[in-house]
Amino acid sequence: MKILSIESSCDETAAAVVEDGRKVLSNIVASQIDEHRLYGGVVPEIASRRHVESISGVTSEAMKEASCGIEDIDAIAVTYAPGLIGALLVGVSFAKGLSMSSGKPLIPVHHIAGHIAANYISHPDLEPPFLCLVISGGHSHIVEVSGYTKYRVIGRTRDDAAGECFDKVARVLGFPYPGGKYIDDAAKSGSKTAYKFTNPKVSGCEYDFSFSGLKTAVINLVHNAEQRGEEINRCDVAASFEKTVADILGEKLMAAAKATGYKKLVVAGGVSANTGIRSKMKKISDALGAELYLPEMKYCGDNAAMIGAQGYYDFLAGRRADGSLNAAATLSLEDICL
Ligand code: KG4
Ligand code: ZN
Repeated sequence: MKILSIESSCDETAAAVVEDGRKVLSNIVASQIDEHRLYGGVVPEIASRRHVESISGVTSEAMKEASCGIEDIDAIAVTYAPGLIGALLVGVSFAKGLSMSSGKPLIPVHHIAGHIAANYISHPDLEPPFLCLVISGGHSHIVEVSGYTKYRVIGRTRDDAAGECFDKVARVLGFPYPGGKYIDDAAKSGSKTAYKFTNPKVSGCEYDFSFSGLKTAVINLVHNAEQRGEEINRCDVAASFEKTVADILGEKLMAAAKATGYKKLVVAGGVSANTGIRSKMKKISDALGAELYLPEMKYCGDNAAMIGAQGYYDFLAGRRADGSLNAAATLSLEDICL
Protein backbone atom coordinates (compact mmCIF):
# COMPACT_ATOMS: atom_id res chain seq x y z
CA MET A 1 0.00 0.00 0.00
CA LYS A 2 1.42 3.39 -1.02
CA ILE A 3 0.73 6.47 1.06
CA LEU A 4 1.40 10.04 0.01
CA SER A 5 2.17 11.94 3.22
CA ILE A 6 2.31 15.63 3.97
CA GLU A 7 3.89 17.47 6.91
CA SER A 8 3.73 21.23 7.60
CA SER A 9 3.47 21.54 11.40
CA CYS A 10 6.36 23.96 11.89
CA ASP A 11 9.04 25.27 9.53
CA GLU A 12 9.56 22.37 7.15
CA THR A 13 7.27 21.77 4.17
CA ALA A 14 7.56 18.06 3.47
CA ALA A 15 6.00 15.34 1.33
CA ALA A 16 6.86 11.67 0.93
CA VAL A 17 5.64 8.45 -0.58
CA VAL A 18 5.95 5.46 1.76
CA GLU A 19 5.07 1.85 0.97
CA ASP A 20 3.58 -0.38 3.66
CA GLY A 21 4.74 1.92 6.43
CA ARG A 22 8.40 0.99 6.14
CA LYS A 23 9.75 1.57 2.65
CA VAL A 24 10.46 5.17 1.72
CA LEU A 25 10.03 5.74 -2.03
CA SER A 26 10.63 9.49 -1.75
CA ASN A 27 11.14 12.02 1.02
CA ILE A 28 11.28 15.71 0.11
CA VAL A 29 11.85 18.40 2.75
CA ALA A 30 11.89 22.13 2.01
CA SER A 31 13.31 23.91 5.02
CA GLN A 32 12.49 27.55 5.81
CA ILE A 33 15.16 27.79 8.48
CA ASP A 34 17.36 30.32 6.71
CA GLU A 35 14.55 32.85 6.76
CA HIS A 36 13.42 32.22 10.38
CA ARG A 37 17.04 32.39 11.54
CA LEU A 38 17.03 36.12 10.78
CA TYR A 39 14.49 36.54 13.60
CA GLY A 40 16.07 34.06 16.06
CA GLY A 41 13.10 31.69 15.95
CA VAL A 42 10.16 30.52 13.88
CA VAL A 43 7.80 33.35 12.87
CA PRO A 44 4.39 31.63 12.51
CA GLU A 45 3.00 33.99 9.88
CA ILE A 46 6.07 33.57 7.67
CA ALA A 47 5.94 29.80 8.16
CA SER A 48 2.33 29.62 6.93
CA ARG A 49 3.07 31.74 3.88
CA ARG A 50 6.12 29.69 2.91
CA HIS A 51 4.14 26.45 3.29
CA VAL A 52 1.50 27.82 0.90
CA GLU A 53 4.21 28.66 -1.62
CA SER A 54 6.06 25.35 -1.36
CA ILE A 55 3.52 22.63 -0.70
CA SER A 56 2.40 22.02 -4.24
CA GLY A 57 5.95 21.84 -5.66
CA VAL A 58 7.23 19.69 -2.79
CA THR A 59 4.36 17.23 -3.26
CA SER A 60 4.91 17.03 -7.03
CA GLU A 61 8.59 16.37 -6.43
CA ALA A 62 7.82 13.57 -3.94
CA MET A 63 5.43 11.95 -6.45
CA LYS A 64 7.95 12.30 -9.27
CA GLU A 65 10.82 10.84 -7.28
CA ALA A 66 8.64 7.87 -6.28
CA SER A 67 7.63 7.49 -9.97
CA CYS A 68 4.00 7.69 -8.93
CA GLY A 69 0.91 9.28 -10.37
CA ILE A 70 -2.09 9.89 -8.11
CA GLU A 71 -3.59 6.63 -9.47
CA ASP A 72 -0.71 4.71 -7.83
CA ILE A 73 -1.46 6.18 -4.40
CA ASP A 74 -3.80 4.33 -2.01
CA ALA A 75 -4.24 6.98 0.69
CA ILE A 76 -3.15 10.46 1.75
CA ALA A 77 -1.76 11.04 5.24
CA VAL A 78 -1.36 14.48 6.78
CA THR A 79 -0.08 15.92 10.06
CA TYR A 80 -3.06 17.64 11.72
CA ALA A 81 -1.70 18.19 15.27
CA PRO A 82 0.16 19.38 17.29
CA GLY A 83 2.06 22.36 15.88
CA LEU A 84 1.62 25.93 14.65
CA ILE A 85 -2.03 26.21 13.75
CA GLY A 86 -1.61 28.30 10.60
CA ALA A 87 1.20 26.04 9.40
CA LEU A 88 -0.78 22.85 10.07
CA LEU A 89 -3.82 24.24 8.26
CA VAL A 90 -1.84 24.57 5.02
CA GLY A 91 -1.01 20.86 4.96
CA VAL A 92 -4.47 19.85 6.15
CA SER A 93 -6.27 21.97 3.53
CA PHE A 94 -3.98 20.77 0.76
CA ALA A 95 -4.41 17.11 1.75
CA LYS A 96 -8.18 17.50 2.02
CA GLY A 97 -8.29 18.99 -1.47
CA LEU A 98 -6.17 16.15 -2.87
CA SER A 99 -8.29 13.55 -1.12
CA MET A 100 -11.55 15.03 -2.36
CA SER A 101 -10.39 15.44 -5.94
CA SER A 102 -8.79 11.99 -6.16
CA GLY A 103 -11.25 10.04 -4.01
CA LYS A 104 -8.37 8.59 -1.97
CA PRO A 105 -8.90 8.11 1.77
CA LEU A 106 -7.49 10.76 4.12
CA ILE A 107 -5.57 9.76 7.27
CA PRO A 108 -4.99 12.33 10.03
CA VAL A 109 -1.61 11.77 11.73
CA HIS A 110 -0.33 13.06 15.07
CA HIS A 111 3.09 14.70 14.66
CA ILE A 112 4.66 13.05 17.72
CA ALA A 113 3.28 9.65 16.71
CA GLY A 114 5.07 10.34 13.42
CA HIS A 115 8.37 11.03 15.17
CA ILE A 116 8.03 7.71 16.99
CA ALA A 117 7.20 5.96 13.69
CA ALA A 118 10.43 7.28 12.12
CA ASN A 119 11.98 4.34 13.95
CA TYR A 120 9.81 1.85 12.00
CA ILE A 121 11.55 3.08 8.86
CA SER A 122 15.05 2.92 10.34
CA HIS A 123 14.46 -0.47 12.03
CA PRO A 124 12.38 -2.88 9.94
CA ASP A 125 12.28 -5.34 12.87
CA LEU A 126 10.92 -2.84 15.42
CA GLU A 127 7.39 -3.49 16.65
CA PRO A 128 5.53 -2.27 19.73
CA PRO A 129 5.44 -2.71 22.69
CA PHE A 130 8.36 -0.50 23.65
CA LEU A 131 9.28 2.46 25.81
CA CYS A 132 9.99 5.67 23.91
CA LEU A 133 11.81 8.84 24.86
CA VAL A 134 10.42 11.66 22.70
CA ILE A 135 12.71 14.70 22.60
CA SER A 136 11.82 17.40 20.11
CA GLY A 137 11.66 21.17 19.89
CA GLY A 138 8.26 21.28 21.56
CA HIS A 139 7.97 18.02 23.50
CA SER A 140 9.83 15.88 26.02
CA HIS A 141 7.96 12.74 26.94
CA ILE A 142 8.48 9.20 28.09
CA VAL A 143 5.80 7.16 26.36
CA GLU A 144 4.72 3.57 26.69
CA VAL A 145 3.92 2.51 23.12
CA SER A 146 1.89 -0.63 23.68
CA GLY A 147 0.62 -0.86 20.09
CA TYR A 148 0.96 1.02 16.80
CA THR A 149 -1.85 3.35 17.87
CA LYS A 150 -1.71 2.94 21.67
CA TYR A 151 0.18 5.36 23.88
CA ARG A 152 0.50 6.14 27.58
CA VAL A 153 2.56 9.19 28.52
CA ILE A 154 4.28 8.36 31.82
CA GLY A 155 6.69 11.30 31.95
CA ARG A 156 6.58 14.83 30.57
CA THR A 157 8.38 18.13 30.92
CA ARG A 158 7.09 20.55 33.53
CA ASP A 159 8.45 23.55 31.66
CA ASP A 160 10.75 23.76 28.60
CA ALA A 161 11.13 20.94 26.11
CA ALA A 162 14.63 19.52 25.61
CA GLY A 163 15.02 21.09 22.15
CA GLU A 164 13.76 24.45 23.39
CA CYS A 165 16.41 24.34 26.13
CA PHE A 166 19.14 23.53 23.58
CA ASP A 167 18.00 26.42 21.39
CA LYS A 168 17.87 28.96 24.23
CA VAL A 169 21.28 27.97 25.57
CA ALA A 170 22.67 28.12 22.03
CA ARG A 171 21.28 31.61 21.65
CA VAL A 172 22.99 32.95 24.78
CA LEU A 173 26.22 31.37 23.55
CA GLY A 174 25.83 33.27 20.28
CA PHE A 175 24.97 30.37 17.97
CA PRO A 176 22.39 30.73 15.17
CA TYR A 177 18.84 29.35 15.43
CA PRO A 178 18.07 26.48 15.84
CA GLY A 179 21.10 25.96 18.01
CA GLY A 180 20.87 22.27 18.98
CA LYS A 181 23.17 21.20 16.17
CA TYR A 182 25.70 23.96 16.99
CA ILE A 183 25.83 22.90 20.66
CA ASP A 184 26.37 19.32 19.49
CA ASP A 185 29.30 20.37 17.28
CA ALA A 186 30.85 22.70 19.87
CA ALA A 187 30.53 20.06 22.61
CA LYS A 188 32.79 17.75 20.64
CA SER A 189 35.79 19.97 21.33
CA GLY A 190 34.83 21.01 24.87
CA SER A 191 35.22 19.56 28.35
CA LYS A 192 32.14 17.90 29.89
CA THR A 193 33.47 18.56 33.37
CA ALA A 194 34.45 22.22 32.97
CA TYR A 195 31.16 23.37 34.51
CA LYS A 196 28.96 21.59 37.00
CA PHE A 197 25.25 22.19 36.47
CA THR A 198 22.86 20.67 38.97
CA ASN A 199 20.49 17.96 37.92
CA PRO A 200 17.02 19.35 38.79
CA LYS A 201 14.81 17.67 41.37
CA VAL A 202 11.24 17.21 40.17
CA SER A 203 8.79 16.25 42.89
CA GLY A 204 5.63 14.30 42.17
CA CYS A 205 6.19 12.14 39.13
CA GLU A 206 9.53 10.36 39.06
CA TYR A 207 9.71 10.42 35.24
CA ASP A 208 8.88 14.10 34.70
CA PHE A 209 11.55 16.48 33.41
CA SER A 210 12.38 20.09 34.12
CA PHE A 211 14.82 22.02 31.95
CA SER A 212 14.14 25.67 32.78
CA GLY A 213 16.44 25.71 35.86
CA LEU A 214 19.31 24.33 33.80
CA LYS A 215 18.64 26.87 31.05
CA THR A 216 18.66 29.72 33.60
CA ALA A 217 21.89 28.41 35.17
CA VAL A 218 23.67 28.53 31.80
CA ILE A 219 22.27 31.96 30.96
CA ASN A 220 23.39 33.31 34.37
CA LEU A 221 26.85 31.80 33.94
CA VAL A 222 27.29 33.52 30.57
CA HIS A 223 25.88 36.87 31.73
CA ASN A 224 27.97 36.91 34.93
CA ALA A 225 31.12 36.18 32.92
CA GLU A 226 30.23 39.01 30.52
CA GLN A 227 29.71 41.45 33.39
CA ARG A 228 33.09 40.58 34.86
CA GLY A 229 34.68 40.88 31.44
CA GLU A 230 35.74 37.24 31.55
CA GLU A 231 36.02 35.05 28.47
CA ILE A 232 34.04 31.86 28.57
CA ASN A 233 34.90 28.85 26.49
CA ARG A 234 31.74 28.14 24.45
CA CYS A 235 32.82 24.61 23.72
CA ASP A 236 33.25 23.84 27.43
CA VAL A 237 29.83 25.31 28.28
CA ALA A 238 28.25 23.38 25.39
CA ALA A 239 29.88 20.10 26.46
CA SER A 240 28.97 20.51 30.14
CA PHE A 241 25.40 21.52 29.29
CA GLU A 242 24.91 18.69 26.80
CA LYS A 243 26.25 16.17 29.33
CA THR A 244 23.79 17.45 31.96
CA VAL A 245 20.84 17.10 29.55
CA ALA A 246 21.98 13.61 28.54
CA ASP A 247 22.32 12.62 32.22
CA ILE A 248 18.83 13.92 33.05
CA LEU A 249 17.24 12.11 30.09
CA GLY A 250 19.24 8.96 30.77
CA GLU A 251 18.37 8.87 34.45
CA LYS A 252 14.62 9.28 33.85
CA LEU A 253 14.48 6.78 31.01
CA MET A 254 16.46 4.27 33.06
CA ALA A 255 14.10 4.64 36.03
CA ALA A 256 11.04 4.29 33.77
CA ALA A 257 12.49 1.25 31.99
CA LYS A 258 13.31 -0.45 35.29
CA ALA A 259 9.84 0.21 36.69
CA THR A 260 7.93 -0.88 33.57
CA GLY A 261 10.25 -3.73 32.54
CA TYR A 262 10.51 -2.78 28.85
CA LYS A 263 13.55 -4.26 27.12
CA LYS A 264 13.10 -2.22 23.95
CA LEU A 265 14.04 1.44 24.23
CA VAL A 266 13.31 3.87 21.41
CA VAL A 267 14.32 7.51 21.03
CA ALA A 268 12.47 9.95 18.75
CA GLY A 269 12.34 13.64 17.78
CA GLY A 270 14.79 16.25 16.54
CA VAL A 271 17.02 16.13 19.65
CA SER A 272 17.61 12.40 19.12
CA ALA A 273 20.20 13.54 16.54
CA ASN A 274 22.43 14.70 19.42
CA THR A 275 25.73 12.84 19.65
CA GLY A 276 26.06 13.00 23.45
CA ILE A 277 22.47 11.90 23.99
CA ARG A 278 22.79 9.03 21.50
CA SER A 279 25.86 7.68 23.28
CA LYS A 280 24.26 8.12 26.72
CA MET A 281 21.23 6.13 25.54
CA LYS A 282 23.53 3.37 24.35
CA LYS A 283 25.17 3.25 27.77
CA ILE A 284 21.90 3.00 29.65
CA SER A 285 20.42 0.39 27.33
CA ASP A 286 23.59 -1.71 27.67
CA ALA A 287 23.39 -1.37 31.45
CA LEU A 288 19.75 -2.51 31.34
CA GLY A 289 20.42 -5.31 28.85
CA ALA A 290 17.86 -3.63 26.58
CA GLU A 291 17.76 -3.13 22.79
CA LEU A 292 18.19 0.48 21.70
CA TYR A 293 16.51 1.94 18.59
CA LEU A 294 17.55 5.37 17.32
CA PRO A 295 16.21 6.99 14.15
CA GLU A 296 18.66 7.48 11.28
CA MET A 297 19.85 11.09 11.24
CA LYS A 298 17.75 11.97 8.18
CA TYR A 299 14.56 10.93 10.05
CA CYS A 300 15.32 12.67 13.39
CA GLY A 301 14.03 16.09 12.39
CA ASP A 302 10.68 16.91 10.81
CA ASN A 303 9.95 14.99 7.60
CA ALA A 304 6.94 13.48 5.86
CA ALA A 305 8.25 9.90 5.58
CA MET A 306 7.62 9.45 9.31
CA ILE A 307 4.03 10.67 8.77
CA GLY A 308 3.60 8.10 5.99
CA ALA A 309 4.96 5.38 8.27
CA GLN A 310 2.54 6.18 11.09
CA GLY A 311 -0.24 6.86 8.58
CA TYR A 312 0.00 3.26 7.40
CA TYR A 313 -0.57 1.88 10.90
CA ASP A 314 -3.32 4.42 11.56
CA PHE A 315 -4.98 3.32 8.31
CA LEU A 316 -4.79 -0.36 9.32
CA ALA A 317 -6.38 0.57 12.66
CA GLY A 318 -9.23 2.29 10.78
CA ARG A 319 -8.38 5.93 11.32
CA ARG A 320 -9.93 8.13 8.61
CA ALA A 321 -10.83 11.77 8.18
CA ASP A 322 -13.17 13.58 5.84
CA GLY A 323 -13.63 17.15 4.65
CA SER A 324 -14.43 18.25 8.20
CA LEU A 325 -10.86 17.55 9.40
CA ASN A 326 -9.46 20.49 11.34
CA ALA A 327 -5.95 21.16 12.65
CA ALA A 328 -5.17 21.40 16.38
CA ALA A 329 -2.26 23.28 17.96
CA THR A 330 -2.19 20.94 20.95
CA LEU A 331 -3.35 17.35 21.27
CA SER A 332 -2.13 14.63 23.61
CA LEU A 333 -1.00 11.29 22.23
CA GLU A 334 -3.26 9.71 24.83
CA ASP A 335 -6.31 11.29 23.20
CA ILE A 336 -5.73 9.62 19.84
CA CYS A 337 -5.38 5.98 20.91
CA LEU A 338 -7.30 3.42 18.86
O1 KG4 B 1 11.49 17.28 16.19
P1 KG4 B 1 11.96 18.56 15.66
O2 KG4 B 1 12.61 18.57 14.30
O3 KG4 B 1 10.81 19.61 15.62
C1 KG4 B 1 9.76 19.57 16.55
O4 KG4 B 1 8.82 18.76 16.35
O5 KG4 B 1 9.85 20.35 17.53
O6 KG4 B 1 12.99 19.13 16.72
C2 KG4 B 1 13.67 20.33 16.53
C3 KG4 B 1 14.63 20.50 17.69
C4 KG4 B 1 15.27 21.88 17.74
O7 KG4 B 1 15.14 22.37 19.04
C5 KG4 B 1 16.71 21.60 17.38
O8 KG4 B 1 17.64 22.51 17.94
C6 KG4 B 1 16.90 20.23 17.95
O9 KG4 B 1 15.71 19.55 17.61
N1 KG4 B 1 18.07 19.53 17.40
C7 KG4 B 1 19.13 19.16 18.15
C8 KG4 B 1 20.06 18.57 17.26
N2 KG4 B 1 19.54 18.59 16.00
C9 KG4 B 1 18.30 19.18 16.12
N3 KG4 B 1 19.37 19.28 19.46
C10 KG4 B 1 20.54 18.81 19.93
N4 KG4 B 1 21.48 18.23 19.14
C11 KG4 B 1 21.28 18.10 17.81
N5 KG4 B 1 22.22 17.52 17.04
ZN1 ZN C 1 8.86 17.49 15.04
